[in-house]
Amino acid sequence: MSRPVLAGRVAPLGTTVFSEFSALALQHGAVNLGQGFPDFDGPEAVKEAARTAITEGVNQYAPGIGLRALRVAIAEHSARFYGQQVDPDTMVTVTSGATEAILCVLLGLVDPGDEVVLFEPFYDSYDANIGFVGARPRYVPLRPPDATHATWWFDRDEVRAAFGPRTRLLILNSPHNPTGKVFTREELEFLGGLCAEHDARVLSDEVYEHIVFGPARHVRAATLPVFADRTVTVSSGGKTFSLTGWKVGWFIAPPALNDAVRRAHQFVTFATATPLQVAMAAALRLPDAYFQELSTAYHARRERLLAGLTRAGLEAHSPEGSYFILADISGQGHGDDVAFCRHLVTHVGVAAIPPSVFYGPEHRHLGRGFARFAFCKTDAVLDEAVRRLEEGLAPPR
Ligand SMILES: Cc1ncc(COP(=O)(O)O)c(C=O)c1O
Repeated sequence: MSRPVLAGRVAPLGTTVFSEFSALALQHGAVNLGQGFPDFDGPEAVKEAARTAITEGVNQYAPGIGLRALRVAIAEHSARFYGQQVDPDTMVTVTSGATEAILCVLLGLVDPGDEVVLFEPFYDSYDANIGFVGARPRYVPLRPPDATHATWWFDRDEVRAAFGPRTRLLILNSPHNPTGKVFTREELEFLGGLCAEHDARVLSDEVYEHIVFGPARHVRAATLPVFADRTVTVSSGGKTFSLTGWKVGWFIAPPALNDAVRRAHQFVTFATATPLQVAMAAALRLPDAYFQELSTAYHARRERLLAGLTRAGLEAHSPEGSYFILADISGQGHGDDVAFCRHLVTHVGVAAIPPSVFYGPEHRHLGRGFARFAFCKTDAVLDEAVRRLEEGLAPPR
């Protein structure tokens, strides 16, 4: 008998839904509103800073914890936008994207058999990484807006029931992918209270921190007293600067937590691309106008796609943040979200993502009535997608 090729920790994982639908999009010449990367470029000054760094020979390993210049820029950004004072030497670490930071938080703070509470639908790497460290996910579904809730919401009793003596970590993501929910201060305080009661730590994934639409406001969880000592804030420059391919991210945490996560980081990637760190420091120091224009431009794209989806017969709740819209497809008559998205990419020529894959098995059915559309695309691409949807979708039943 030969040994199995796959290790147990990867055996349950298939190819990510993004690879599958991107391949289908290519094969069928579909407009890709599936994967969440902008089809426009980042700021010229930031790209120029990277080119200069490469030309000037900043091309060898950076310190494992990140270039000091970038760590200082991250600390200044936290102070500028959130009034959060962080020590760049003991509280900030640079990683290869938020994705690496998420894995390192799990490796550094969670033991096998511990429980991790997370909301569904979730960003898919959370679930895989919980599996990698041998921990147990405790899922809490976010519920769609209804007559009494203007935005996606959670049932406080369900969250309470998910916490227990084995809870080691809560994963928060606000602004939230894929619902676009921005957690309010009050919701965060409730969640922080539960973490304090159970002595749980918090991973706060804030990669969409600058893509928020008023009146919603992004609250950095770590600035609330209940979170301050227990939270690792994770972010990156990918979404904020439309440079997702650079994979420069970071985590910010009190020194003891930072040290725990750094221990993992030093043996995961050790260091992140040096010239891109130089450029990311320049990006984080862009004037306030850059950040305002980013959310203004995304607001216009959100409105454009929402109006188009409505014309095509797809109802959608307006997201408060992030660059995703979850559209209601339950009246489309294709069974579930996976079948609908397959039909969409092959027959209508538009790629979207079926969100049921962002749920655990117990609540998967809750995602089946939705499709996720990304609006981080140029107007021409959004318009073409809408044209195809209007032409190709049957009028709702
Ligand atoms: C919620 C969330 N967290 C993390 C990431 C990954 O960020 P990065 O590209 O910096 O690794 C993404 C990317 O889509 C995301 O949506």
